[in-house]
Amino acid sequence: MEQQYILAMDQGTTSSRAIIFDKERNIVSIAQKEFTQIFPKPGWVEHDPHEIWSTQAGVTAEATTKAGLNGKNIAAIGITNQRETIVVWEKESGKPVYNAIVWQDKRTADYCDELRQSGKHEMIQKKTGLILDPYFSATKIKWILDHVDGAREKAQNGELICGTIDTWLVWNLTRGDVHITDVTNASRTLLFNIHTMNWDAELLELFDIPASMLPQVKESSEIYGESRTTIFAHKVKIAGIAGDQQAALFGQQCIEKGMVKNTYGTGCFMLMNIGNKPIMSKNNLLTTVAWKINGKTEYALEGSIFIGGALVQWLRDNLNIIYKSADIEQLALSEKDNGGVTFIPTFAGLGAPYWNARAQGTIFGLTRATTNGHIARASLEAISLQTSDVLKAMEADSGIPIKELRVDGGATANNLLMQIQANVLNSNVIRPKITETTALGAAYLAGLAVGFWKDEQELSKFWAQDRLFEPEKEQEEQTQQIIKQWTKGVKALQFWTEN
Ligand code: G3P
Repeated sequence: MEQQYILAMDQGTTSSRAIIFDKERNIVSIAQKEFTQIFPKPGWVEHDPHEIWSTQAGVTAEATTKAGLNGKNIAAIGITNQRETIVVWEKESGKPVYNAIVWQDKRTADYCDELRQSGKHEMIQKKTGLILDPYFSATKIKWILDHVDGAREKAQNGELICGTIDTWLVWNLTRGDVHITDVTNASRTLLFNIHTMNWDAELLELFDIPASMLPQVKESSEIYGESRTTIFAHKVKIAGIAGDQQAALFGQQCIEKGMVKNTYGTGCFMLMNIGNKPIMSKNNLLTTVAWKINGKTEYALEGSIFIGGALVQWLRDNLNIIYKSADIEQLALSEKDNGGVTFIPTFAGLGAPYWNARAQGTIFGLTRATTNGHIARASLEAISLQTSDVLKAMEADSGIPIKELRVDGGATANNLLMQIQANVLNSNVIRPKITETTALGAAYLAGLAVGFWKDEQELSKFWAQDRLFEPEKEQEEQTQQIIKQWTKGVKALQFWTEN
């Protein structure tokens, strides 16, 4: 029973999860806990860093105990996390100086506009592969230094450090011994040069962030240190880190150039493996680091959609038209079409390929005949249509027609959503047997580092299809109508935001 398992910590936007895999990558145990979402003002989103850590530690202990295991049985820990979300804390005490500012937070939109007007966005995009948008970490760190009493002075004195959530978890797991991040998380900060693979002095100066605050950048699969918490009676190696979308790309085994996955989580994130050269997007997608293993860096093109599963949560928690998230499928099936309703769920701005931080959600086409079923159907269509906009941009950037999309994440259990997705993309949508690919990717990265699995070839044998969704010929006309309504709706929303 010694060291036969890998534990993946999956710290997401709405919940902390821990999953234990065996060598055949079966899930042996799983635990999950939702945590508080803090909305201090419209457009602001925060998390309590202590709650992030306590829920993550709690589910880790729960999953381990449930499986009847202890630290001795765990060969390594892999970490994957919501990206861009930032924590700033005191180096000595480990105490955060402010809440974590979450990736969805738009408080720095005006500052991003100012930078754009001063023409800085091109230099930023060339170095980082990212678009200048409040989504990324740098402007959030700057906001904390500018607004928390005494923070800038302390940072300049070397008393404050910062990091994305992977960094925060490793710091807590090692009781402050290790302050690191991996290349995938670093590549989401607007401070990391994806060509030199280092923090960039010009960007640090532009955002006025002292270099001493930043973690050391590591590869995605290597031994970073050992746990020193009381969760495990024995020390366990921490050996894999990747941002959740890159981890899902790896978990889906999209290891060849041109392979694409889409993850349906809080948002939807489509990534294409583009090999070992960082192609710059001409269609408003992001170029990001996919992973670095054994000295070799691979890159990805990414289309980030901010609201995916969060829309279903909103229908559940704010409109109360469903009791649990899974009920959306039955409700949508209660109507044969959307009844003319187009829902543009831009609750956190419009992401790729439009990038409009100020866009707010809207519903077009309401009549007295509109039912909850129509709204449910229009919601599933909205998730699929945003994905379709990104896929078109990705085809244009890569010059590769995408005939097949691997999907994962909770919402892929919804067969109607997957069918609508295949119809609007006019491509095959493939759901694998394991849809927990984010955690699996982190487990693979950790397992490779400690020799639990031999190499990537061994891992690709594990990938297996559950179901293939093909575009339905008989739905073609209805699908074209949905796409037409959507395109008109997005244009109208952009116009309304600008005027
Ligand atoms: O970039 C944000 C992303 O990493 C969040 O992922 O799974 O928490 O929606 P998720």
